[in-house]
Amino acid sequence: MISYSISKGINGYANIPGDKSISHRSIIIPSISNGVCEINNILKSEDVLHTLNAFKAMGVKVEENNKKLIIFGNGLNSLKKPKNKIYLGNSGTSARLLTGLLSSQKFDTILIGDNSLSKRPMKRISDPLNKMNARIKTSNGKLPLKIEGSELKCTKISLKIPSAQIKSGLLLASLNTKGETSISENKITRDHTEIMLEAFGAKIEVRKNEDNKLIKIIGKNELVSKNIDVPNDLSSSAFFIVAALINNNSKLILKNINNNPTRNGFLLALEKMGAKIKLLNNRKSNNENICDIEVLSTNLNGCELGPEIADLMIDEYPILAVAASFASSPSIFRGLKELRVKESDRLKLIMLNLQKCGVDCKTENDDLFIYPSKKYEVNSNIIQTDFDHRIAMAFCVMATRIGALKINDSDSIKTSFPNFKNEFNKLGGRII
Ligand code: S3P
Repeated sequence: MISYSISKGINGYANIPGDKSISHRSIIIPSISNGVCEINNILKSEDVLHTLNAFKAMGVKVEENNKKLIIFGNGLNSLKKPKNKIYLGNSGTSARLLTGLLSSQKFDTILIGDNSLSKRPMKRISDPLNKMNARIKTSNGKLPLKIEGSELKCTKISLKIPSAQIKSGLLLASLNTKGETSISENKITRDHTEIMLEAFGAKIEVRKNEDNKLIKIIGKNELVSKNIDVPNDLSSSAFFIVAALINNNSKLILKNINNNPTRNGFLLALEKMGAKIKLLNNRKSNNENICDIEVLSTNLNGCELGPEIADLMIDEYPILAVAASFASSPSIFRGLKELRVKESDRLKLIMLNLQKCGVDCKTENDDLFIYPSKKYEVNSNIIQTDFDHRIAMAFCVMATRIGALKINDSDSIKTSFPNFKNEFNKLGGRII
């Protein structure tokens, strides 16, 4: 696709799809609970559909009714051995969460994925699961994974890598494990799994201390289904928010956006950059924080962000880097190590593509430095995405200010935001 510059700003009400992280969990947790769960506003993107297909292949009954997805759960041990290998496409969340869940089942499974997912590290989930006696064979630390379902041993695990996917995989494994598993993390990661498990009646206790969080969970306790309203995704909103901020004459409203404090670093960063953003109607739904957001065009200032904020906004750096490119002063984003193992090496691609757009930027170790200019000379208008949806969408936004950019392999956008192009064009963008 090619994204072009715009002159009239980004205006109106943005239709943002349901949150991706919560959507995955809205399939996984009801599938192993007892009772019927009606899910409203679930994200129907490729990643989430891979999770859904996995559970259908394991015998879970699923219906669709009036745009709601209905899952008929039959308890912790109701899943059946799938006939084939489970294909998870591009979805790292499906891979890590399912590895945990499947390691404590009574059957064996093989997980496979697309080229990009097959390059991503899986030892980060198999290693801590091995401490629970899981039997997982990786292929040199990557997919395909052979998971031999077995009775796991409860234990105490301290998370070495800040990752909600790892934490959630362990929590799902411990649900079917006798006794008390305890997981401690010394950096904050998104807590959607803990929130949903608590609502479904899990015996889970979360204790937050000053510099660490301890989660204790007692397994072999059946869960009870509840209906779920999936809020809209802040990570998907971020592309529209930045497009409105960096283009003059914009006024954008986004409704029903998830504003979970373990995930809202992007809004905190924009606040530091002086963004004209109002968070309105703060409320709770299914114990998740929700708000509406109003955004006005802003001459942003640059900012320095430390590594502590990286865990709260890891998915938003590609688009924040675009925002920083149009600020009135330089920005430094520190501690971006985890960006290297996402759907692509995002740190490398942010730098490479910003340089193609004429932005002066560099990385030192895992820190990113951006020096904005008043006018950019585009060196190459072909953007390399390595099939990474967030790099593709971020550079669609970049084009709104600097002129035509050809976004290679933009099909990846379907993994998280199938209607991105139409929605962007509806609000004043120009993508063809
Ligand atoms: C996710 C956790 C994050 C995030 C990903 C979704 C989740 O990954 O980048 O897009 O749903 O748990 P890590 O846990 O690897 O940081």
